[in-house]
Amino acid sequence: MLALRNVTYSYPLQIQRERPVLDDISLELPPGKVLCVAGNNGSGKSTLAQLCAGLLLPSSGSLELEGRRITRKSDFLELRRKMGILFQSPEDQLFAESVFKDVSFGPKNLGLKGDSLEKRVRKACEMVGLPLNLYGGKSPFSLSEGEKRRVALAGILAMEPQILILDEPFIGLDFEGRKLLESALEAFMRQGTASIILFTHELAHCWKLATDFAFLSGGKIAAFEKGDINLLRDMDFSSLSMNLPQWAVLARKLSNMGAKINNPESPRDLALALISIKESSGGK
Ligand SMILES: Nc1ncnc2c1ncn2[C@@H]1O[C@H](COP(=O)(O)OP(=O)(O)OP(=O)(O)O)[C@@H](O)[C@H]1O
Ligand SMILES: [Mg+2]
Repeated sequence: MLALRNVTYSYPLQIQRERPVLDDISLELPPGKVLCVAGNNGSGKSTLAQLCAGLLLPSSGSLELEGRRITRKSDFLELRRKMGILFQSPEDQLFAESVFKDVSFGPKNLGLKGDSLEKRVRKACEMVGLPLNLYGGKSPFSLSEGEKRRVALAGILAMEPQILILDEPFIGLDFEGRKLLESALEAFMRQGTASIILFTHELAHCWKLATDFAFLSGGKIAAFEKGDINLLRDMDFSSLSMNLPQWAVLARKLSNMGAKINNPESPRDLALALISIKESSGGK
């Protein structure tokens, strides 16, 4: 499990009196969870993503991995080995002349070669919906934005990380592209004890995958379990300037008007709740 304990972060060149970008943040990510961290532009998502991946060091507070506080350089190296981070601009992560070479870079560095290397690369490419026989020889730079993002993800999955950190993975993808990426992430989660932290400014994109939510605003964070009805009923989303998915806004309004709607998790749940209310009131 990854945990952040009272983590504060200011960039080195930030003016001293300025509020830190991240202020006293505590979070826990147990295995098997998909934590969706939502926040507006500039709220600190990419900064927090890099802190979780061990690429930035907290100004104060600490990180823990499996209950052990991370302090030494060797601990950070171990953290980085267990994490896979997909950056906000995955194009920056691509460099090789073919998809095969790009995806095999990480596992090769882990010492894999020959058949086991090819097997690992094949599996990762299949997980992201880019079969090796069709895409392996192509240049990653000749692919569409959505395909590039999935190649970058395959390169990370091929290293079999325990925790996947995704910074705005759905940005710029159409419905089909989002579905393909979603299936890759579901396949990753089916592997057992893995977990994901997904950073986004658009809640609707990760509603299905998320098991927990956290909202980042003014450098502070508030985390919720997905099943928590208060998330829909009591949160002041306008102060966060966050948009809930439209169907969730409707569920919240109906719930505030007294309708018995148990925290629906999808438009389908909401539709079923409305049907059952209608049936129990004799169709009125
Ligand atoms: N290298 C840097 N040096 C100084 N300040 C930085 C640096 N990178 C980011 N910041 C500042 O930190 C704050 C948070 O930035 P960050 O990129 O983490 O936000 P974000 O939530 O990822 O935004 P976006 O949704 O636009 O990607 C911003 O005010 C930004 O100006
Ligand atoms: Mg960002």
